[in-house]
Amino acid sequence: MRPTHIRIDLTRLRHNFSIARQHHGGRLLAVVKADAYGHGAIACAHALADVADGFAVATLEEGLALRQAGIALPIVLLEGCFSPEDRALTLAHDMTPVVHTAWQAEQMLAATAGAQAPPVWIKVDTGMHRLGFAPEALPALVRRFRQQGQRTLVAMTHFAHADGLSPHALDAPLALFRQAIAGLGVETSLSNSGAILGYPQSHGDWGRPGLMLYGLDPASPGIAPRAGLLPVMSLRSRLMTERTIAAGESVGYGALFTATRRSRIGVIPCGYADGYPRTAPQGTPVHVGGQIVPLVGRVSMDMLTVDLTEAPGVQVGDAVELWGDQVPVATLAHTLGTLSYELVCQARRAPRQHIHA
Ligand SMILES: Cc1ncc(COP(=O)(O)O)c(C=O)c1O
Repeated sequence: MRPTHIRIDLTRLRHNFSIARQHHGGRLLAVVKADAYGHGAIACAHALADVADGFAVATLEEGLALRQAGIALPIVLLEGCFSPEDRALTLAHDMTPVVHTAWQAEQMLAATAGAQAPPVWIKVDTGMHRLGFAPEALPALVRRFRQQGQRTLVAMTHFAHADGLSPHALDAPLALFRQAIAGLGVETSLSNSGAILGYPQSHGDWGRPGLMLYGLDPASPGIAPRAGLLPVMSLRSRLMTERTIAAGESVGYGALFTATRRSRIGVIPCGYADGYPRTAPQGTPVHVGGQIVPLVGRVSMDMLTVDLTEAPGVQVGDAVELWGDQVPVATLAHTLGTLSYELVCQARRAPRQHIHA
């Protein structure tokens, strides 16, 4: 069997959740959309089911998969419903779609009148300008839901600077949000990982941590380890083969790397189809046989190559970590000009091994 696999440490997931809990203090929806950011939504949801207060997913399909897997906790659909049929299904499966447009609000009002009405989450646009109601529209909407007997109303927002840690960028949207909910008596949900870790003023009733549960840095490398978060995913393999090339010979597609000396080249069976980025530059660190060695040559669909010249002790069959404890995802993402979010979500082909370490 091809040795490339994605190892997911569910004990670390629970550890990271407890850190989110310590920071936030309120109720937490564990965000498991996009297959738990590539970590496996069902396994992660089961691992958190006795500690989380609920789960957040992007789509109805993701929510249904959790229900079919026996997850009974509240599930919030962050993108809401796309049609009346969606709305009927979400209610039938006891899921909570976020309401972010007028037509969704009308449909929800029509479908959920009465004191037994399920909770309604209403999205307020505080500057992202993607989804949600203008802050000044909130009071009238809340009044209409209240008139129908809806008791649990949660006003939520998602900060435009949610994927970074620049707390002052959150001051103005937070002020807008506070103004919008003043006197309404609604519950609130504002903070994702970055805000949970770095902006306590925004915590509200419900936190929505995603990335931090997976032990990853919301912004620049270093924040997650300082907060005591541990990476949950590692992308692993084994050294498949090696060969020696002469100075002047090249490796891989497009001869991107040409040796300037006699070089020992190692081949690792992991490529961009496994989620390892094709754009990784020459010299990107790869952990092989206990040592960091540089990536050389173009990452191809199923394989990549490393320079083992300075690592004479490394042998075929040695363990490889493409990312994880030795090569932090955030460092790799930083090198590539992207974020940890994108890398882990792309790790798809290699089989996942969920472990409780
Ligand atoms: C609405 C919403 N809330 C919470 C989150 C979780 O964010 P993070 O992964 O940064 O914690 C996301 C993720 O994109 C989101 O879209």
